[in-house]
Amino acid sequence: MVATYDIERSFDWNYDNGPVYEGGFPEVPKTPQKDFLGLGVNSRIGIPAGLLLNSRWIEFYGRMGFDILTYKTVRNQYRPCYDLPNWVFIDRDDQIDPRILDEAQKMAAGDPSDPLAATSSVSFGMPSKAPDEWMPDVAAARRVLRSGQVLIVSVVASSKPGTSVEDMVREFGDLAAMAREAGAQMVEANLSCPNVHKSEGEIFLDAELSGEIAAAMQKGANGIPVLLKLGHFADEELISEVLHAVEGKASAVVMVNGISRRVVKDDGSAAFGEGREMSGILGRGIHAFSLDNVKSALEIVKKDRLSLKIVAVGGVSRIGDAKEFFDAGAAAVMLGSAPMFDPTLAIQFKKSHPEW
Ligand SMILES: Cc1cc2nc3c(=O)[nH]c(=O)nc-3n(C[C@H](O)[C@H](O)[C@H](O)COP(=O)(O)O)c2cc1C
Repeated sequence: MVATYDIERSFDWNYDNGPVYEGGFPEVPKTPQKDFLGLGVNSRIGIPAGLLLNSRWIEFYGRMGFDILTYKTVRNQYRPCYDLPNWVFIDRDDQIDPRILDEAQKMAAGDPSDPLAATSSVSFGMPSKAPDEWMPDVAAARRVLRSGQVLIVSVVASSKPGTSVEDMVREFGDLAAMAREAGAQMVEANLSCPNVHKSEGEIFLDAELSGEIAAAMQKGANGIPVLLKLGHFADEELISEVLHAVEGKASAVVMVNGISRRVVKDDGSAAFGEGREMSGILGRGIHAFSLDNVKSALEIVKKDRLSLKIVAVGGVSRIGDAKEFFDAGAAAVMLGSAPMFDPTLAIQFKKSHPEW
């Protein structure tokens, strides 16, 4: 299987050597300029926090015509990646039922026959280089952007048991300031990592805390737009509470992150090893309920006349998937895992829909 991220190798190897690519660079179609949160972009097609490990990855996918590029989540300190495996395929080609929370997902034995129709799962633990490495690299990423492209930097606080809520909120604000100083044009707080300590991964389910973090991010961002990465909501009522709590502080929410599920091997043991039972599910299997959450959020925004924009992510690998999100009113559509298998997706999308 050809992929830009080599899942058999470590995060550090991929950081130092990726993206792996031996194909050509097709011409990127010229498209009319659009607005994304106040900046001009060639398209509202992007890559969310994940695949873009550093400035080399950003340069590559920018050259492939993705215009909204998110630098993978960074911290205020070095954090190693979990051991291999970090990325496995799931043995199913249907949609995961969002209501069944305890259904174990079975790891597939081999590679999927069609990687663009695959569901997969990642468990990295949100590794990060230290700021003295990522800040100069964010500056480098900014320099390699082409005209009509924007750089978002995703950040997360590193709370340990015992860290006070005030300290965590302050840390998000400090990280927003660091990312802006480094060269980010927009900053994003990851409130929803599915495979880390529970308190880090489920912040978005606490409306009041999400509002406080949004306010701290807004202060640290000092005028550049703030985005918040949210996970999947089982409860529509809560979507409304969270959107109202962050309104006026964040410019947009990005939804949804991978959903947290137990991933097992054939023999029932944890696919990623003991202690890493839960991991984030991505790709085809989460598209239907990502769409469901995005549509609910857009309805709330419309009904309550909120200024928040909704950036859609979850299982987009085909033109029809992106169309569903744009038709619903998403401000942008992001492809998390599919561009690893086919880096030309933005080019294909732009050819068929220059208005995106
Ligand atoms: C390799 C990889 C690493 C990821 N790391 C992060 C991360 O650091 N922060 C984050 O907010 N989301 C992370 N994600 C989640 C993606 O942003 C996205 O929400 C998820 O892949 C679902 O989109 P998809 O179905 O298009 O893959 C990661 C995804 C992948 C594929």
